[in-house]
Amino acid sequence: MSRHAVILGGTGQLGAASARTLLDDGWSVTIAHRGERPLPSGVLDSAATAILDRADADAVVDLCRGADLVLDCLAFAPADAAIHGRLVGDVGSVVVISTASVYRGENGTWLDVATGEEDFPVLPVPVTEEHATVESDDEGYSARKAALERALLAIDGLPVTILRPGAIHGPHSPALREWFFIKRALDGRERIPLAHRGESRFSTSASVNVAELVRLAGERPGRRVLNAVDDPAPTVLEIGQAVLAHLGRSAEFVLLDGAPVDGVGGHPWAVPRPVVLSMEAARDELDYEPVGSHRATIGSAVDWMLDAVRDADWRERFPALATRYGASGWFDYDAEDRLLAR
Ligand SMILES: NC(=O)c1ccc[n+]([C@@H]2O[C@H](COP(=O)([O-])OP(=O)(O)OC[C@H]3O[C@@H](n4cnc5c(N)ncnc54)[C@H](OP(=O)(O)O)[C@@H]3O)[C@@H](O)[C@H]2O)c1
Repeated sequence: MSRHAVILGGTGQLGAASARTLLDDGWSVTIAHRGERPLPSGVLDSAATAILDRADADAVVDLCRGADLVLDCLAFAPADAAIHGRLVGDVGSVVVISTASVYRGENGTWLDVATGEEDFPVLPVPVTEEHATVESDDEGYSARKAALERALLAIDGLPVTILRPGAIHGPHSPALREWFFIKRALDGRERIPLAHRGESRFSTSASVNVAELVRLAGERPGRRVLNAVDDPAPTVLEIGQAVLAHLGRSAEFVLLDGAPVDGVGGHPWAVPRPVVLSMEAARDELDYEPVGSHRATIGSAVDWMLDAVRDADWRERFPALATRYGASGWFDYDAEDRLLAR
């Protein structure tokens, strides 16, 4: 009999990739979402859908009861663990998406509170799952995710796999960071300045690699926390080279010492110290093998992005990108040209 998975947030980048991976592996899948985005092509014909809001706990529990696998892409705070507490004994395996930003630096800071190089978290390279996470009453994203993880692990008997992705890339992304390079290529920019000599490394996560971890956790329920990133982690220079190569374009990358100057050289992966996660535990625990490297998987994200903006202004199509990542400042070509001329 086919195994059944429920995906909370199934039309998003991780939900869509996981649905496809599970369907290809013979699972039946129900995609739950509020109905505010179109269903991903390729999943439409094969998956069932449920329109609900995750805030409606009774509806979520009713939908998930009896499933072999529940993937929750929509848990952000300790209170969100409550529905999983109600599912103990009624589901085979639960996978909850957390984040790489839960790690606390050896200098006591973390990503949300860092303001620059001085207080940027100092992390071992690579970071393993045993490393300390944020413990704080801070209401920020990372502190609440870390508290969510503790709340999930405190639920007796819950077969929960917590996954910590880095900067996710793939089709259906609401915040495609690669637009930084794609637009420059389309605009014919011949020189692309990169702060920190292009050496910044912030672990990336192909949605198909996270989906493979979801599938394995569905097959092997357990109580565990696992990093969920591309291995090896590319530098930003390698990310830029991969995006341009996929587009069949070339440009000179100008490698600037130090932090961005008046925004020039800044980019969405700019970090003064590496945030690079280990994948040893996933290999040991689940015999995980990645679907592909960053280089091998980035093309589908780029193609999807090009398609998504074909008939639309990128700011309207990706409003979160323009506000959340400061993308409105990414393309100040005048400032860039002035600095490069010096
Ligand atoms: N983006 C990153 O780089 C990154 C990095 C690390 C971790 N994460 C984690 O990844 C998770 C997000 O996954 P994702 O990137 O795949 O999300 P996503 O692409 O933004 O998709 C969100 C999905 O959830 C649905 N949804 C949103 N609010 C809902 C609600 N209240 N009730 C029911 N459905 C709802 C959306 O469809 P509707 O809008 O139609 O409901 C959509 O299907 C989060 O837990 C985040 O912390 C993200």
